[in-house]
Amino acid sequence: MNSIDGLRDRLGRIAYGGDYNPEQWPEHVWDEDLRLMKEAGVSLISVGIFSWAAVEPEPGTYDFGWLDRVMDLLADGGVAACLATMTASPPPWLTARHPEILPTGADGTRMWPGGRQHYCPSSPVYREHAAGLAERVATRYTGHPALALWHVGNEYGNVAPCYCDVSADAFRRWLRERYGSVDALNDAWSTTFWSQRYASFDEVLPPRSPAPFANPAHAVDYARFSSDELLACYLVEKEVLRRVSPDVPVMTNFPPSLRPADLWTWAPHLDVVAYDAYPDPYDAAADAKIAFSYDVMRSLRDGQPWLLMEQAPSAVNWRARNAPKPAGAMRLWSWQAVAHGADAVMFFQWRQSRGGAEKFHSAMVPHGGPIGRIFEEVRELGHELAATTALPGARAPRADVALVLDWPNWWALEQDAHPSADVRFLDAAWALHGPLYDASVACDVVRPDADLSAYRLVVVPNLYLVDEEAARGIERYVEDGGTLVMSFFSGIVDPHDRVHLGGYPGPFRRVLGLRVEEFGPLPESGTIGLSQGTGTIWSEDVHLEGAEAVEYFTTGEPAGRPAVTRHRYGRGTAWYLATRPDPATTRRLVDRIREEAGARPVLPGLPEGVQARARVTGDGPCYIVLNHRTTPVTVDLPGPMSDLLGGADAAGTVRLAPRGVAVLRPAG
Ligand code: GAL
Ligand code: ZN
Repeated sequence: MNSIDGLRDRLGRIAYGGDYNPEQWPEHVWDEDLRLMKEAGVSLISVGIFSWAAVEPEPGTYDFGWLDRVMDLLADGGVAACLATMTASPPPWLTARHPEILPTGADGTRMWPGGRQHYCPSSPVYREHAAGLAERVATRYTGHPALALWHVGNEYGNVAPCYCDVSADAFRRWLRERYGSVDALNDAWSTTFWSQRYASFDEVLPPRSPAPFANPAHAVDYARFSSDELLACYLVEKEVLRRVSPDVPVMTNFPPSLRPADLWTWAPHLDVVAYDAYPDPYDAAADAKIAFSYDVMRSLRDGQPWLLMEQAPSAVNWRARNAPKPAGAMRLWSWQAVAHGADAVMFFQWRQSRGGAEKFHSAMVPHGGPIGRIFEEVRELGHELAATTALPGARAPRADVALVLDWPNWWALEQDAHPSADVRFLDAAWALHGPLYDASVACDVVRPDADLSAYRLVVVPNLYLVDEEAARGIERYVEDGGTLVMSFFSGIVDPHDRVHLGGYPGPFRRVLGLRVEEFGPLPESGTIGLSQGTGTIWSEDVHLEGAEAVEYFTTGEPAGRPAVTRHRYGRGTAWYLATRPDPATTRRLVDRIREEAGARPVLPGLPEGVQARARVTGDGPCYIVLNHRTTPVTVDLPGPMSDLLGGADAAGTVRLAPRGVAVLRPAG
């Protein structure tokens, strides 16, 4: 039962609710909360995420009375609880008694209490206390009728990497296990460079603000280690929960930034993937960018429905300027998550805080009470989602396109002392994912060593770090008839950040049919002419070895040399981008490549700004159609479909209001 299926059967609907922090309010408010939750169609509430100090006010003294009452109220009100183990933020008594658990920055600065999540992930003292509290909480509430899901930690990726002596010790143990001997470490880290050779593991430190640049292999291993240490914190608690409360699924919510933790290594340890999404309403590409995150979340456990654990009802409060979500955007973006495979739509937070650092963050129930636009939209969405019972549990069909994502590559790509500081992984991924998104072409996200054979098109943004075997797998995919698009600065180094010798792009030279002799990064905000359009960020000196040039550079040093190439290889085709073309040019190229590869939009003929994604229910496919435009639009459908949101049955067309949504099922 400890799976998403159990949760789905229990909730029987797309889960709806948010973070609930009742300890911030007098008890008489709780009754109103429950009444309003009913009114808003709330079915699931996350409780206790930051409640450590409230349940253990002094070491070993517990006060669960208030939480018992909250849990009982929820059970009586028919609202399920996603109950936290409450270990996300250590209480003042713990850091006062054990200052050694406070994290230390790369420059040696201690981080002090007063904010949150201030703990060293390697600290045995923190882990022991966290496991102890998890055990208390689990023992007390397992079997409680409100309990539906365990919530461990909070956004582990946002816990700062720690560089303290405890972490240094743990890092040495991690290295010993990984390398076995200090000779192997020296070899992997290329320590003959700059006189860095270690005589023993005991001499190794975390990469603490080294001068002038860190050894990149050392730095990337520290990122791997830091991800593993956070995962270990999660696993310590998960083990307790499994033992004490084996029937209840366990999750943790991933932060908006995908970068800090290697989620491929985390995913097998989760019963269900959960994500917190905070698209910026001021960013015109917000929906396209968040779509990439959603595709990652759906792909982490191979298409299993995931949970949108947090989003803002309207504005956040942590950007320099915090835009409210315009009318209809909250609904539209919620449905966007469902379209990309989410089985829950949740918010931070239920009731807007009166004090504290997040009092200007919007909430489902605003400071002014349950009146006005926000609560109105919250209530309408709650009921709409409740009525769409066909969707929970429905998986997205396998996409035609896969995009390759690898975390060590991401970390290695963004080290110092590279040809250009402008080569950032997320920009590269968005640049290639965006045109697919804009064309309503579904995209899965895969590891570099995944079985690619089911995909018509494989997109590889900046795979700078890659091992020979994964590269060989990508080559074989093309050999066997696949279509590949790869962007520049790929195939450059091995997993220890050592260059693949013999000409760039190393293990991809054969499949791409070319050799790159020199990199030509562009000046800040510079552009370079292409036969059609412009290039940004990068140019390079490409020599064809079997590939043909499809676009040329027309200005600057590489004028006349290939900028975009195509290589027929085996039964397939490999494309290479030696620059980042401007968005319109990339769109044109990606459209052409994916059409040739046979990768199709989810629905044909959708107007620009209208998105569709499918989920396959027991009764066949459902198409979620989203109008991201601020004008109404009529969409021609491939046949008659009915709208589960109660829009009129449409004979082959559907009319969408500005920011409108339809959930369509083929009629008949
Ligand atoms: C999340 C966090 C929440 C809350 C929210 C505000 O990252 O998990 O606790 O701080 O941001 O946007
Ligand atoms: Zn530490």
